[in-house]
Amino acid sequence: MTQPVSRALAPFGTTIFTIMSRRAQERGAINLSQGFPDFEGPEFVKDAAREAIRGQHNQYAPMPGVPALRAAIADRFSRSSGLPCDPDTDVTVTAGCTEAIAASVLGLLNPGDEIVLFEPFYDSYRACVAMAGAAPRVVSLVPSGGSPRAFAFDPAELHAAITPRTRALLLNTPHNPTGKVFARAELERIADCCLRHDLVAITDEVYERLTFDPALPHLHLAALPGMADRTITLSSIGKTFSLTGWKIGWAVAPPRLTAAVRAAHQFLTFAVATPLQHAAAEALRREQEYVPMLLADYRARLGELAPALTSVGFRVIPPAGTYFLMADHSAFGFEDDLAFCNHLIDEVGVAAIPPSVFYQRPELGRSLVRFAFCKKPETIRTGIERLRRLSAAPRG
Ligand SMILES: Cc1ncc(COP(=O)(O)O)c(C=O)c1O
Repeated sequence: MTQPVSRALAPFGTTIFTIMSRRAQERGAINLSQGFPDFEGPEFVKDAAREAIRGQHNQYAPMPGVPALRAAIADRFSRSSGLPCDPDTDVTVTAGCTEAIAASVLGLLNPGDEIVLFEPFYDSYRACVAMAGAAPRVVSLVPSGGSPRAFAFDPAELHAAITPRTRALLLNTPHNPTGKVFARAELERIADCCLRHDLVAITDEVYERLTFDPALPHLHLAALPGMADRTITLSSIGKTFSLTGWKIGWAVAPPRLTAAVRAAHQFLTFAVATPLQHAAAEALRREQEYVPMLLADYRARLGELAPALTSVGFRVIPPAGTYFLMADHSAFGFEDDLAFCNHLIDEVGVAAIPPSVFYQRPELGRSLVRFAFCKKPETIRTGIERLRRLSAAPRG
């Protein structure tokens, strides 16, 4: 029988998140791998969902999303970006940011087109590019010391990545897995490149509210001069409201680009869960009742995990955003990140992510390991206790 998985998708196999979470469960390991909270999202949002179901919001939503949610998204985006945003022509509600990424890439790119990606990249990017028949042009974020500005790109590499076939650039800030928040000067370089080469920018901003360094606030690429007309800004409620299972996301873009997103969205999912859209609108309207507290919690958890990892022997690269932390595991003497993560699960009882899978050049990620700290304090503390076993037996 011929290979049942299409040529475009066969190379991607099963995502590392599924593999690591399954292994963590099998081995009873503390799961600091996949980025989902092991605690509940806010009650007022769950109540709003119950209310919406009882209130008979249970049939298909309009294709672009329910008006109340689009209005809440437009209002929130306008306030944080300073840009006008029309809920009817500029906002599309999708099945999480994952679908927003797919709809943007599939709606925009033709076979043979190229798109710039920064490695390490979130794992769905390359698969979506392959589904579109397009090709990635990869620019590396290279660890550059232990500062929050670590993981820098070389502007010359960015310019060299662009050819006459390049149509778009996909940027993730705050960035998974590095915890990098792109600084204004970096965004200006990226914007300059998009303007000079007439590229559409797609920005994945799912961690937009999770930033820890006052010197590096989250900035919308769309808000830089000249960029509003050529940027599709993506986000979702999953990370901001600790509701990753709800899969309510969106794309904000001017009408010309929204048309491309909707052209794909109407055939990917057409519309997403109606009652959860109503509840997501309530979440966004009352964001201040939850997010500051969540941020304080994450700051405290990072404040426990980072020094503990350092004391065990990791070299921690402090994140400026997201709920991930990258650390260098070289001190323990393993061959690569996969060998190290397997040892962590099997012998130490902690699951983490081997980041080389997020690279086109895997060697750039081999000495690194990604820990998620979107977990209860007791989960993190148990993880730390177990990780202390590592320092007892460093390898040669
Ligand atoms: C960078 C990035 N983009 C997109 C997503 C997916 O977002 P959603 O759960 O809203 O589909 C994730 C989830 O981990 C992510 O880390």
